[in-house]
Amino acid sequence: MSSAPLPDPWTRPVPGPDAAVPGSGGLVDRHGRVATDLRVSLTDRCNLRCTYCMPPEGLQWLPKVEQLTDDEVARLVRIGVERLGIREVRFTGGEPLLRPGLVGIVAAATALSPRPEVSLTTNAIGLARVAPALAAAGLDRINVSLDTLDRERFRALTHRDRLDDVLAGLRAASDAGLTPVKVNAVLLRGMNEADAVPLLDFCLEHGYQLRFIEQMPLDAHHAWTRGEMVTAEDILARLSAAHELTPDTEERGSAPAERWLVDGGPATVGVIASVTRSFCGTCDRTRLTADGQIRNCLFAREESDLRTAMREGATDDELADRWRIATLAKLPGHGIDDPSFLQPSRPMSAIGG
Ligand code: 5AD
Ligand code: SF4
Repeated sequence: MSSAPLPDPWTRPVPGPDAAVPGSGGLVDRHGRVATDLRVSLTDRCNLRCTYCMPPEGLQWLPKVEQLTDDEVARLVRIGVERLGIREVRFTGGEPLLRPGLVGIVAAATALSPRPEVSLTTNAIGLARVAPALAAAGLDRINVSLDTLDRERFRALTHRDRLDDVLAGLRAASDAGLTPVKVNAVLLRGMNEADAVPLLDFCLEHGYQLRFIEQMPLDAHHAWTRGEMVTAEDILARLSAAHELTPDTEERGSAPAERWLVDGGPATVGVIASVTRSFCGTCDRTRLTADGQIRNCLFAREESDLRTAMREGATDDELADRWRIATLAKLPGHGIDDPSFLQPSRPMSAIGG
């Protein structure tokens, strides 16, 4: 399966010194990319323990005082949208449904002008109860993480027996009109590779859009190895044994998923090949952690502390400027294949996917 070559992040022309002057404009970096998609982690906590993410005993959670309040989150999202050109806001975690103020935070984001697109990435536990309130708050779309439909494997993979809650959450999201419902799946060698085709059949049957994500080195316990990872090629080979896949020729833009039509379409399946076919050259994302740090990349080793600045009285202009400066320094690529690659010290659950 081949696809058009992606722009090489290392050889893109570098804009001149005036291309991104702090003090005005959007979130531009030195490699010509513009961040318009904001991922906001609302908590580092989770009620699952996916083996590729957290150890079974959990992690040392952020102390409450270090976590942004609902008003602080709403303020930074507003600055992003009103001053920095953010057009999409995605709330994540950890597990964002564990955040008591979630519905109010979503409502604040959807009330902004220009109105951003607002979505949520969740494991769907508890979603059956809050999906209608989220839809009423203006939430546009939802992504649900689900790696297996087998109850035993779900328990082995997440250390919790909650598959039924997830399935109920998916149904509720669909019933509440939070569509298209997307399902994210990570495959682990020797664990749930056999779930690839059943997950696709399930999503085709229910009208959910399935995307497989290559496992990235973002686990808290640093157990990821390149050799153990299930690659996009492996995933496509498995799916092709049961379905005919043809590349979807629709423009991909900055979307990380490469898409294939399933059995001639219109249904599609996506593969996010973050490791083997990285898409850093078209990245349009910026991230805000639950403790108020801006990260210009999932794999960044540096952060910009907006929480302290905000609590010391920084104005909206000053916060916007700090955010612009943090963006300028964004590296051209994640460098996972570079021998000098170092995994970030924050795990995925504390960054936000
Ligand atoms: N690699 C790839 N995907 C991951 N996720 C969590 N940790 C990893 C990882 N190390 C996924 C979750 C969720 C999304 C936010 O990211 O399964 O779907
Ligand atoms: Fe929780 Fe998501 Fe991590 Fe699983 S991957 S433990 S659902 S934060």
